[in-house]
Amino acid sequence: MNVYDADRMADVLRPLDYAVTDTADDADLVILNTCHIRERAAEKVYSELGRLSQIKEKRDPDADRMIVAVGGCVAQAEGKEIVRRAPYVDMVFGPQTYHRLPEMIAQAHRQSGVVLDTDFPAESKFDHLPEQSAPDGYSAFLTVQEGCDKFCAFCVVPYTRGAEFSRPTKQVMGEARRLVASGVKEITLLGQNVNNYHGSTECSTESVGEWSLGRLIGELSEIEGLTGIRYVTSYPADMNDDLINAHRDVDKLMPYLHLPAQSGSDRVLKAMNRRHTSKDYLDVVARLRDAQPNLAFSSDFIVGFPGESEKDFEATLSLVRTVGFVQAYSFKYSPRPGTPAAANELQVPEKVKSERLGRLQALLNEQQLAFNQGWVGKQMDVLLEQPGRHEGQLVGRSPYMQAVHVDAPIEMTGEVVTLAITGAHGNSLSAELLSAPPAQDQTEKRAMA
Ligand code: 5AD
Ligand code: SF4
Repeated sequence: MNVYDADRMADVLRPLDYAVTDTADDADLVILNTCHIRERAAEKVYSELGRLSQIKEKRDPDADRMIVAVGGCVAQAEGKEIVRRAPYVDMVFGPQTYHRLPEMIAQAHRQSGVVLDTDFPAESKFDHLPEQSAPDGYSAFLTVQEGCDKFCAFCVVPYTRGAEFSRPTKQVMGEARRLVASGVKEITLLGQNVNNYHGSTECSTESVGEWSLGRLIGELSEIEGLTGIRYVTSYPADMNDDLINAHRDVDKLMPYLHLPAQSGSDRVLKAMNRRHTSKDYLDVVARLRDAQPNLAFSSDFIVGFPGESEKDFEATLSLVRTVGFVQAYSFKYSPRPGTPAAANELQVPEKVKSERLGRLQALLNEQQLAFNQGWVGKQMDVLLEQPGRHEGQLVGRSPYMQAVHVDAPIEMTGEVVTLAITGAHGNSLSAELLSAPPAQDQTEKRAMA
């Protein structure tokens, strides 16, 4: 979502004659769009700010001033504390106010001292953002939902991104159509609780009502030229029938689902304030597999949550094996200021966390490699996205999010082609070109893969 937000910030600033540059050295404005999810992410901001201060110092503050801004969730959470630690910062703004960037910049030029905007404004930023500009590639992100009301005991998101909010359906459909018209083939719908999307239809021709994510996906699949739809991230207890049925009925919906479990231990899940048990999780997986047998699962896991015992951790390993996750992100628990779990006295020692993380990642890597190897000798439809590292090579994204390397002419970039998989690695596949299927067959073939 930070990638999406950063692109939208560029859209806001384009009418003011700002353009994106590759290096900070000659920039008039540098925005660090920050993540507060774990301590390491937050600390990176300060080391990056240190680097920027050296560049800023070399500039003439009258003729060649560089404005340094911190946006995103660290800004939201830390506010003025950022300026205390890094006094050369000119602007601090949260994830819900970046539509006001032009005013903030004007203010920064007028006044000395920091411009601070970490409101949760009543108006939605989406109502004030300019139209999204044409993206660089063939796959694009589209935020449909933001914020979170779940308050998992470890997580800062409800405090930094604010309450759950779904964008109206007309706005989302319009943005998706514009993306496809500018060449996008695959759209990933974004939201912290994306499967709880319930966008109002009040701006559309229909009478006032709501669309679920399943309904939205069905409607999006009607857009000609769009070949793939994904959504991320989902909350297991919010997985409803509409969405499960979409996996059965919508060919363009990719057969890959990121569904964070966090733990396999019911005791830990309860302490985390997750609203599911391991059985609930397995039931949802079974319902989804009934609807779409090709579905592969990915997940997020936290090890070393306060009070996690060896037995609890083994329940996580067991869940990983039972579901057969083909990919997952796993993290050591990181205490976040202000969240309930940070104050828990039963913190797990760092050494234990590291050891558990190592075991979990070894298992996940093993499963991921086995899944990838299972594709060797089979065919798969892949969206060719960009040139690869070697001359004559293209890199694509498989329906299962694997990077796929293939020797193919550059003109094929942006096409969905059927490939023969010839090799498997930890995170990627090698492939050979068969032939490009006629456009109308592509979604059918992809569903078969
Ligand atoms: N410590 C470690 N991991 C965390 N996550 C969220 N908060 C924390 C934390 N305090 C992980 C969760 C979530 C992912 C985005 O980040 O697994 O799903
Ligand atoms: Fe954080 Fe996700 Fe829990 Fe919300 S549901 S509090 S975003 S982990």
